[in-house]
Amino acid sequence: MMKAIEIENLHFKYKGQRKYILNGINLKVDRGEAAAIVGLSGNGKSTLCYTLNGIIPRSLKGDLKGRVKLFGKDVRDMKNRELAPLIGVVFQDPDTQLFSPTVEDEIAFGPENLCLPREEIGRRIDEVLGLIGMEEYRYENPNNLSGGEKQLIALGAVLSLKPSILVFDEAMSQIDYRGKKKIKDIIRRLKQDKKTIVMIEHDFNNLDAADRIFLLKKGKLKEFEGELL
Ligand SMILES: Nc1ncnc2c1ncn2[C@@H]1O[C@H](COP(=O)(O)OP(=O)(O)OP(=O)(O)O)[C@@H](O)[C@H]1O
Ligand SMILES: [Mg+2]
Repeated sequence: MMKAIEIENLHFKYKGQRKYILNGINLKVDRGEAAAIVGLSGNGKSTLCYTLNGIIPRSLKGDLKGRVKLFGKDVRDMKNRELAPLIGVVFQDPDTQLFSPTVEDEIAFGPENLCLPREEIGRRIDEVLGLIGMEEYRYENPNNLSGGEKQLIALGAVLSLKPSILVFDEAMSQIDYRGKKKIKDIIRRLKQDKKTIVMIEHDFNNLDAADRIFLLKKGKLKEFEGELL
């Protein structure tokens, strides 16, 4: 069966650096599966996320070897239009992801860019606001929200594109207990919808939504065998 994500012998080092941050990564994730990746700071978890959605090598330059395929297609062969409905990444720092004057605009931004019909965009805004439980913030300026609320909006901005693959790069770091429960519920629902999830996490309490857990260390991924928690 075709894998949602297939990484083959991936190597990457940033331009001007000597060390390969990713040094022979292999990973296969099925459709509908949630894979968690843990690892100490600086081990390349975010770098790996950049290779999944094409930021590497498009915006961040360096030496890239190996292959990243999403549903059988190499990320490097896909244009943004093709990638956007396929994969969405929620990053660690919501301030780098939010730039619209209202929560509503933020959530509508992706679908508008894809030139979806007005009514469809309206439907998605309602649906996403319900999912993240932020209906009453619809007309707020994201700048005025708390860190955790901003992270929920950043998630909403990705959810509105309805991507087949969702990547959470420590996207829950500023969210309180209630918000985390909400996100875990969303992840469970996404899995039921056969969405594929990659979650970068350092908080082991957030890993219970994951089907498989991998450690990224010294440029390599290793799957935890058996029970971890
Ligand atoms: N844009 C960049 N240019 C050059 N080097 C970078 C860049 N981004 C990250 N690095 C380097 O790559 C290494 C891995 O960084 P990365 O952010 O991928 O780690 P991480 O596992 O996500 O860490 P954290 O848990 O702190 O988020 C670090 O040594 C970092 O300094
Ligand atoms: Mg990181």
